Amino acid sequence: MSGFAPNDLEAFWLPFTPNREFRRAPRLLVGAEGVWYRTADGRRVLDAAAGLWCCNAGHGHPRIVEAIRRRAGVLDYAPPFQFAHPDAFTLAARLRDLFPGDLDHAFFCNSGSEAVDTALKIALAYHRARGEGQRVRLIGRARGYHGVGFGGLSVGGIGANRRLFGPLLPGVDHLPHTLLEANRFARGRPPRGAELADALEDLLERHGSETVAAVIVEPVAGSIGVYPPPVGYLERLREITARHGILLIFDEVITAFGRLGAGSAAEALGVRPDMITLAKGLTSGTVPMGGVMVRREIHRVLVEESPAPEWGIELPHGYTYSAHPLATAAALATLDVYRDEDLFARAAALAPVFEERLHALRDALHVRDIRNLGLMGAVELEPRPGAPGARGFDAMRRAFFGHDLLIRVTGDTIALSPPLVTGEAELELLFARLEAVLRELD
Ligand SMILES: Cc1ncc(COP(=O)(O)O)c(C=O)c1O
Repeated sequence: MSGFAPNDLEAFWLPFTPNREFRRAPRLLVGAEGVWYRTADGRRVLDAAAGLWCCNAGHGHPRIVEAIRRRAGVLDYAPPFQFAHPDAFTLAARLRDLFPGDLDHAFFCNSGSEAVDTALKIALAYHRARGEGQRVRLIGRARGYHGVGFGGLSVGGIGANRRLFGPLLPGVDHLPHTLLEANRFARGRPPRGAELADALEDLLERHGSETVAAVIVEPVAGSIGVYPPPVGYLERLREITARHGILLIFDEVITAFGRLGAGSAAEALGVRPDMITLAKGLTSGTVPMGGVMVRREIHRVLVEESPAPEWGIELPHGYTYSAHPLATAAALATLDVYRDEDLFARAAALAPVFEERLHALRDALHVRDIRNLGLMGAVELEPRPGAPGARGFDAMRRAFFGHDLLIRVTGDTIALSPPLVTGEAELELLFARLEAVLRELD
């Protein structure tokens, strides 16, 4: 049982988990390799979720493990305020090369939530530095997930996450979400709904476009259960924001690093935002790290042309663990693995097979909708009457205990995001197991 004492389950308060239920039947993972987890009771469980949308290079990759190990023995920590270490610059330059256009400066933090709050703060500071300090409003989208900081929660649009925590940030509004009945079972980007972006014009009319600092969206809404953007939707958001001098932020915490078969959704979908938030796949989930890619113009205004004196800090923002040496070592090794194993192309090649197998579940019991883009997929189940979320939760438990399959569920939607190294045979196994789970569900 690898050091697990059954009476040790009280002190740890699990995040986003029904704690009382967990203690009755704990789902404990004690090892991981490739696309497999090992459980405390000795089973091998197939990872259909890349951990939590993050282990894109697969688990325990020897090059990443070795890089972290080596770095820990050489430079355990370097203060990121007033000092730095060379890997931080190397990593930023590598990311500059990976992201399209002039998204060529990186600000580092430790999570997706911090990346979002950092991007929102940069947006506000940018407008103020340009003499447009009245641009203080932020616009997110209904059902968006941007982490759990007060900024990300405010622009986020998942009611259950927000309700307990008071009024949140002032001056925030939301676009409508993009899930349309008419698009059920669409493959890839759904054909209808580009006009939903025009709701932004209404919000700008209501609030005054000159008061809006930034619009933030996930290019593919992930956590809510994979909503790919309708064809033309992101292009319209880009056009409207550009026309009104509003910054467009893509939250790519899930979509960057190969999930859509390219370095970013911006590249895969051909739309250029002004900032991109990162985390998860940046280190393939091995060491916590987040970041924001920022366009040259924003960096120029805030840093190169800052009125601060030589000893003055241009942007009072950062974290004790920004660009932590273990994180940068993990990220650099991860980027090497993505490049040397051509994992983004591999994901792009696997995506049509994934789509085919996913949509073959259409006639399974309780299935209400199926959605996919790249290696992101969702099977939305009909909720049980009066018990929303119960069927999804049941699916997750049955998958794990009965079929050695790790899936992510959000409400009654099963979300799939296999590691990019998943082979066709493993993908076949994944869907065979998922089918078996669906057959059992009442
Ligand atoms: C789009 C998006 N933004 C932000 C976050 C928050 O990231 P973290 O949990 O690392 O704070 C997530 C996490 O799933 C996410 O999917």
